[in-house]
Amino acid sequence: MRKDRPSRTALKVALNIVTLGSKPGMEAILPAGIVDATRKLLVASGAAGERTVKWSQSQTSVAIYDAFDWMLPGQFEAFAHRKAFCERQVREGIDDGTTQILVLGAGYDTLGWRLAPEFSGVNFFEIDHPATARLKDRGIKAMGRQKNLRLIAEDLGKRKLSDVLTTDKSWDQSAPTVIIAEGLVMYLPPEAVRDLFCQCGAVAGGGSRIAFSYIPTGADGRPDAGRWTGLMLWLQKVAGEPWLWSIRPEELGQFMAELGWEANFSQGDLKYKYGVEYFAVAKKKGAPIVFTNTNDSQDRFIME
Ligand SMILES: C[S@@+](CC[C@H](N)C(=O)[O-])C[C@H]1O[C@@H](n2cnc3c(N)ncnc32)[C@H](O)[C@@H]1O
Repeated sequence: MRKDRPSRTALKVALNIVTLGSKPGMEAILPAGIVDATRKLLVASGAAGERTVKWSQSQTSVAIYDAFDWMLPGQFEAFAHRKAFCERQVREGIDDGTTQILVLGAGYDTLGWRLAPEFSGVNFFEIDHPATARLKDRGIKAMGRQKNLRLIAEDLGKRKLSDVLTTDKSWDQSAPTVIIAEGLVMYLPPEAVRDLFCQCGAVAGGGSRIAFSYIPTGADGRPDAGRWTGLMLWLQKVAGEPWLWSIRPEELGQFMAELGWEANFSQGDLKYKYGVEYFAVAKKKGAPIVFTNTNDSQDRFIME
């Protein structure tokens, strides 16, 4: 992705959520309060103007998204299912005793802001690239930030997750944690994805889980977005956020096992797919690895 400007794909997901809020029937799928919170966040952060947000709520906008479904069938509604899937993992995790939530590549996601007041005994952390995180922080401050929500601005391509979190006094490496990596891993190079999953296992305690979405690999070895894959890959590249990693769903279990995670432990079905993406959840295996900080870079920037 372009390092100097806020993420366009994060904005696209957020505007998509706003539009889904105007589509009949989607209220049964979208997490409660997500549409209002996203609308407020976009305006308060300056990520989008009021007119853009209003346009996104219009029936014309719904019709345009619906019309584009021929290109990527199911992709419009997939974002609602993705948000619902991730929130379900967080709520189930909290029911099971999770005390920490970490949202990686959070973009303009509002899960932390909405759930922090409801679960005051749980610490919510978000990490995103500085260009996006700083803008979001402005919005969250304007909307009122709970003490148990921390926004961290960091380029995870530059600095290891374990280094970022082990220098944060409020992070507890032994706590059971739910980690969310929604719409993130496809933008990272393969070695960074492996490293990220390893790091996630290292920073979280036993009983932790990670929920994520990914793009499947097609027969030609490229990320598979269906019939219009070539055009999609080109558009992503032109937008400066190309898809760099994908995996065949049937290979995910083995891939995750090598990195210390038991994939889809509760679903038993790896083919959990909406639009072009698969959703997966994995549970941490074995004992936690304890990391000590090795690289406290000047670039680090924690928002208070
Ligand atoms: C497609 S957006 C998804 C946003 C959010 N997860 C959602 O679904 O609403 C991808 C996000 O990953 C973030 N991201 C990409 N590369 C990153 C990196 N190297 N370090 C931190 N964040 C990164 C982008 O800034 C962007 O917010």
